[in-house]
Amino acid sequence: MTMRDSYSRRIDYLRISVTDRCNLKCVYCMPSGGVRHLRENEVLTDEEIVRIVRAACRHGLRKARITGGEPLMRKHITGLVASIKETGVHELGLTTNGIMLSGLAGELKNAGLDRVNISLDTMNPGRYRAITNGGSLDRVWKAVEDAGRAGLSPVKINVVPVRGLNDDEIPAFASLTFENDYHIRFIEFMPAACDGTWKRDKCVSSAEVINRISVLGSLERLEFRGGGPSRNFRIKGARGVIGIISPLSDHFCTFCNRLRLTADGKIRPCLFSGINVDMKTPMRNGASDRELERLFCRAVKLKPRRHLLNEDITSGHLKAMSEIGG
Ligand code: 5AD
Ligand code: SF4
Repeated sequence: MTMRDSYSRRIDYLRISVTDRCNLKCVYCMPSGGVRHLRENEVLTDEEIVRIVRAACRHGLRKARITGGEPLMRKHITGLVASIKETGVHELGLTTNGIMLSGLAGELKNAGLDRVNISLDTMNPGRYRAITNGGSLDRVWKAVEDAGRAGLSPVKINVVPVRGLNDDEIPAFASLTFENDYHIRFIEFMPAACDGTWKRDKCVSSAEVINRISVLGSLERLEFRGGGPSRNFRIKGARGVIGIISPLSDHFCTFCNRLRLTADGKIRPCLFSGINVDMKTPMRNGASDRELERLFCRAVKLKPRRHLLNEDITSGHLKAMSEIGG
């Protein structure tokens, strides 16, 4: 069954945050004082997550992505991946900072994971430590290689350019696509609850990113939309793909196909809206599968037409990205 929201958008993609914890503390994502963490019993169990995914699959879900916090911090993540895949979702991805990925890549692939997105904002070890609050760049590079070798491909690397922090590395990241079949995805820096780190002038617009990359060669436009918000390009002669994701400068809301499930069991129809539908409380009070399906459909219908990030920055119900999974 196909699921349409109130604006006729087909909704077939769920991002599932499996933990609100993270082993890093990236400056653009979290407040430096940290965030209040959920208690263990506030977080959905594996069985609860799988029940929600099953309900969603009966209403047209085709793609899912496991996010966090850092999803690999969740206990028995491989088992959860396998159970989610068994619900019948066609494509299952996972977004990780890569710190714990290298030893797990093969296992995750065998459990049914199709792909990974690895967040990596700099290729300089000292800078990486500064941006992430102490992370080791070596481990992430090893994860990138191991993920490719394990067949979690194409490996996608998410880069958030922030002016004065890492924007000088935009061409170097783009150049990785000459030798590797990676997808390098540049995501515009969005306002999140990260103690005032966000300022409009620190956000490097997609237009500027494209400009800075175009010195490397002519950019060939690939398919219009790969079912997501990314506009894809290839530098002439390169193996990999450049993805441009513009939450601020492009209202890709028109093409939005997704919902989010938070670690504590709420469906959020839009990243930038406080609207949510609690699935956990009814489930723990004995809701039937039919009732869960009804709640899921309600969340779909509550999806707003678009965000208002450009009109009024304070209108977004901003949370740390680690709480909602990006
Ligand atoms: N703006 C843009 N992207 C962000 N991410 C985290 N915080 C922000 C932000 N403020 C990215 C991470 C990760 C993805 C899930 O979201 O880098 O790759
Ligand atoms: Fe979709 Fe909301 Fe993102 Fe717009 S802001 S693209 S509606 S999730």
